Amino acid sequence: MTAGTTAPGGALLATSDLHISYEENRDIVRGLRPKSPADWLIVAGDIGELVADVEWTLGLLRERFAEVVWAPGNHELWTHPSDPVQLRGVERYQRLVEVCRRLGVHSPEDPYPVWPGPDGPLRIAPLFVGYDYTFRPPGAATKEQALARAHDTGVVCADEYLLHPDPYPSREAWCRARVAATEERLAALDPVVPTVLVNHYPLVRQPTDVLYYPEFAQWCGTTATADWHTRFNVAAVVYGHLHIPRVTHYDGVRFEEVSVGYPREWRRRGEAVPTGLRQIFPEAAKR
Ligand SMILES: [Fe+2]
Ligand SMILES: [Fe+2]
Repeated sequence: MTAGTTAPGGALLATSDLHISYEENRDIVRGLRPKSPADWLIVAGDIGELVADVEWTLGLLRERFAEVVWAPGNHELWTHPSDPVQLRGVERYQRLVEVCRRLGVHSPEDPYPVWPGPDGPLRIAPLFVGYDYTFRPPGAATKEQALARAHDTGVVCADEYLLHPDPYPSREAWCRARVAATEERLAALDPVVPTVLVNHYPLVRQPTDVLYYPEFAQWCGTTATADWHTRFNVAAVVYGHLHIPRVTHYDGVRFEEVSVGYPREWRRRGEAVPTGLRQIFPEAAKR
């Protein structure tokens, strides 16, 4: 079957945080294969830091899966000194969207594709909403206090140095604009078709409660999306970023953290080499 065609019987699969600057993780990508040529794949961000690496990964996956859906992670949005592409902020994001369009990968800037599931169609909505420092550590009332706490403990996300918000004045201003535009788009959808929301960050704060360093939560999302899983007709939420792969439920909605993470992390979890694929739907056949 050629790429781009779909057939009944496929699954909706997901992965994230492939971090292919690590050779062991690049090997995981080389091994990512559908069980059926009809399988779709969600990639929820943090493929890597280099535009060429994002293109290599999405191109390879696009050849193998019927459809590929991508949402950006913070690492793709870094302007890393080793990347020949030195675009910043919105321009960098737009370059990544162009890469997706050239490859035929669905990005947050395109119409949301509809997966023809066996129990009825599901709309797959890749989102880019960012974060705004509202997931603050206990006792920190403002962004400044939260950041000061992080600097005191030495837990400062590299985004502070590499993720530029240009032309927005701040990452939180970029986040506010993305939240407003995304919210409007979700509100305009036909609520009859359930939606799978795909975002690099959890849309609710609770998953960050188990972070080893609570100060890190400020780089993990925004309180502005706290009710999206109940406000819209949401079948499931797929996210990554925390590198804590698991399944939780909030208000009866399934949240799937699908990170692969760094080699030291997946080795610590006692996994041999992770398969890198989580089945989201059909739900009954999984695990
Ligand atoms: Fe990551
Ligand atoms: Fe991330």
